[in-house]
Amino acid sequence: MADKRKEKVIRRYDKMSKYYDSLDSGISKTSENLRKEAVKSLNVKPDDTVLDVGTGSGVVLPWIAEKLTIGKVIGIDLSTGMLEKARENIPDNFKDRVELKVEDVEAMSFEDNSFDSLIAIYTLTTVPNPKKMMEECLRVLKPGGIFVMLDTGPPSKMRGYPVYLWMRLSAALFGYTFINRKLKDYIQPGFEIIGEERFYATTVYIVVLKKH
Ligand SMILES: C[S@@+](CC[C@H](N)C(=O)[O-])C[C@H]1O[C@@H](n2cnc3c(N)ncnc32)[C@H](O)[C@@H]1O
Repeated sequence: MADKRKEKVIRRYDKMSKYYDSLDSGISKTSENLRKEAVKSLNVKPDDTVLDVGTGSGVVLPWIAEKLTIGKVIGIDLSTGMLEKARENIPDNFKDRVELKVEDVEAMSFEDNSFDSLIAIYTLTTVPNPKKMMEECLRVLKPGGIFVMLDTGPPSKMRGYPVYLWMRLSAALFGYTFINRKLKDYIQPGFEIIGEERFYATTVYIVVLKKH
């Protein structure tokens, strides 16, 4: 792969895959609650085809799979290490409804209008080119489909700045996480914002987009 930034993402997350789950759940129980809230906003129907963009260790895949009967959820990621963890994390009874694929979210192999809904959790702040990610997400989502995004970003209220500065410092130490990205700078005209909630003094958001 020619793009050095993507090689960096792969190296970083392959390495992190060994301790990602314990690190994440160690940070707080709230991060699990936020992910559950994001999944709720997807409003999954039993026959939906859902894409988890930058699935990582696949934390949300079982919560989506349990709502499906004939539908399926596909988790994609660049890191095979993270996908290996995701494979271990899927309970046996959901394995027939979950697919895992190595895919670059900035250049997906899926056909246009393939998915009823998409979810991206802490992915916008990680991908090398967020504009391409958003273009691709718009392309593969069906018209009328929902795209739920949970991520960190600059606060919408002044009171969030102390938390935000602390988060930026931690992100810098952690490396390669761009929490200074503003989602609104990347939303394509084909999307409409139909829901937005903010947490952690407005530094964490769940935004629900609908494709026209
Ligand atoms: C911060 S992790 C979040 C993982 C998961 N969504 C979660 O909630 O824990 C971001 C993930 O995005 C993946 N990623 C980054 N750039 C990507 C790209 N261009 N295509 C696919 N996955 C990518 C990383 O490998 C990593 O697993």
